[in-house]
Amino acid sequence: MHLSNFYLASNPTPVRDAITRYRRAFDEDPHGFLDDNMFGRDEDMLWREVCAAAANYVGGQPNEISLTSSTTMGLALIYNGLSLKPGQEILTTTHEFYPHYESIRLAAEKSGASMRQIPLYESSLNFSADEAIARMCAAVRPNTRVFGVAWVHSNTGVRLPLADFAAALADLNKNRDEDDRVLLVVDGVHGFGVADEDVARMGCDFFSAGTHKWILGPRGTGIVWAEPRNWALVRPTIPSLMTRETADAWRQDRLPVGPTEAAWVSPGGFFSYEHQWAAAEAFRFHQQIGRKRVHDRIAELNSQIKVGLAGMKHVTLHTPLDPDISAGIVTFDVDGHSPRDVAQTLRHNRVIANATPYGVPHVRLSAGIVNFPAEIDLALEVIRSLA
Ligand SMILES: Cc1ncc(COP(=O)(O)O)c(C=O)c1O
Repeated sequence: MHLSNFYLASNPTPVRDAITRYRRAFDEDPHGFLDDNMFGRDEDMLWREVCAAAANYVGGQPNEISLTSSTTMGLALIYNGLSLKPGQEILTTTHEFYPHYESIRLAAEKSGASMRQIPLYESSLNFSADEAIARMCAAVRPNTRVFGVAWVHSNTGVRLPLADFAAALADLNKNRDEDDRVLLVVDGVHGFGVADEDVARMGCDFFSAGTHKWILGPRGTGIVWAEPRNWALVRPTIPSLMTRETADAWRQDRLPVGPTEAAWVSPGGFFSYEHQWAAAEAFRFHQQIGRKRVHDRIAELNSQIKVGLAGMKHVTLHTPLDPDISAGIVTFDVDGHSPRDVAQTLRHNRVIANATPYGVPHVRLSAGIVNFPAEIDLALEVIRSLA
């Protein structure tokens, strides 16, 4: 019973079929297939289809999407690409996962900017959005240039109401110069493919998410969404093959002209194109089911886990019961057993769970649209037996 849906997707049939189709075409004619679909006519470039499908899913525009290989890569490209000045700081939280924290740390080290972490809550179970937003606002200083935060925290299962965070920052930004605007950078991976939200309308400045988890896309795929005015703030780190301008500039021995665009930040070097291009099918698959239905089903199944755990005296639940402030991740502890031991016991009983890889680990269960209520009953039975 796959109750670790937060980890890596098992691809649905349309995605698998597309990967196979592209892989065969590459094996038959690697030069011609790549040339025709990557460097030929603009309208034939298959990466544009991925951007269009992703844009449709986020409620934005294709030119706002950069194609990456993971959440991690997207975050690193953003933080590394922003021109942070010495003296400026990146504010983040104590709830971030390693790739977000490390992207910030590495970028700050290079630019001479600093990083600072704040807790948005003490008790995740009793998470209060008002309190978390007040904590963020109180922590912003005149030299804060970025607030970096995860949409869904993978050690607690808390989902932030991002639009409210963005609105509070927009208020603070009213009194700041354009160059000092606090940018909201989001590690969105555990809300993307779960929440029924138009990511492009939440008010974030940069949103990075792998599409190999909840979006059910091919392994090694992801996107960053940002509006053109924010892409213009980013210096590309890796040469792109998805823009003519930068390569033309090289050929003509001049500098690229114009502000950075999303495509300029899509890393080049030849990619695993059969995966990158098949990601379009994953977005279509979600749209075909309907974003709301996906959300409702994930909320229903994970609520079943939470309600079951909340009724067990030997279990301490960390994830809020309210689906508005949680998503597809449920974390908890079991009296007298380490998280790792609980995960092992679940596995011995054919339930795929894990212990979170954080400084203070918890047991983690995560139901997705592949699951059924009966599977969750069985997982709960195993945990009940540990009393
Ligand atoms: C909150 C969070 N961010 C980022 C990641 C890493 O995602 P990716 O593999 O797409 O880089 C994870 C992994 O589960 C995560 O939990």
